[in-house]
Amino acid sequence: MAAETIRLSIFRYDPESGEQPRMQAFEVPLLRRGMKLLDALHHIKWEIDGTLSFRRSCGEGVCGSDGMNINGVNGLACITPVQGLRQPIHIRPLPGMHVLRDLVVDMDHFFAQYRSIEPWLQNDEPVPEHERLQTPEERARLDGQYECILCACCTTSCPSWWWNGDRFLGPAALLQANRWIVDSRDTSKGRRLDRLEDAYRLYRCHQIMNCMEACPKELNPTAAIDNIKREILNRKS
Ligand code: SF4
Ligand code: SF4
Ligand code: FES
Repeated sequence: MAAETIRLSIFRYDPESGEQPRMQAFEVPLLRRGMKLLDALHHIKWEIDGTLSFRRSCGEGVCGSDGMNINGVNGLACITPVQGLRQPIHIRPLPGMHVLRDLVVDMDHFFAQYRSIEPWLQNDEPVPEHERLQTPEERARLDGQYECILCACCTTSCPSWWWNGDRFLGPAALLQANRWIVDSRDTSKGRRLDRLEDAYRLYRCHQIMNCMEACPKELNPTAAIDNIKREILNRKS
């Protein structure tokens, strides 16, 4: 019996060639049940066309490096099963990003926005002899925040970020900002809120909720953004 075949149509762009971007068709065998999209990309790279460029590292949905647009929806290739995807599977780079080559996008601005929220614990109280303790309830407030792997699937699915990405921080950076705002050990909450209270940095979120649907870790950046807005309101009342 002939092996089942997976058909793909993949965005190709080589800035050194001088040619326009194009979609290229590939066929790969279904290698095993539960085969992931990253397995198909590896097969193409190693067996068919070594010039195909994409990022990946862990292969387990942990490093966040293989975010891409799969049949119009952002996701991680390493945890997306090929079976069940409409064929040919259309694979494009993350939307709204400058493409460096094929599926590799320039992440500099995304990470600059992440750095801008100062993603580290800030505490001006004397350093305790042992660790800074939290109650179970305080620790639970970090659930749904700290698991973010910075894959950019949410931010690059956000229309507000496509239009105002130079000033709107986008859902990933704002979820990370909220992660520190709700941390009971951090004493910079007021300053963090001051820096976010801005018509563009925070308030360009119009609650379209694309970000929540795109997140492969099932996080909810919309709720995190809502919480930041609520914190700003609460301190005024
Ligand atoms: S909820 Fe806000 S951050 Fe999320 S996609 Fe919509 S506008 Fe963007
Ligand atoms: S919130 Fe989800 S989609 Fe956004 S960067 Fe983090 S893990 Fe990726
Ligand atoms: S390769 Fe690391 S998240 Fe997919």
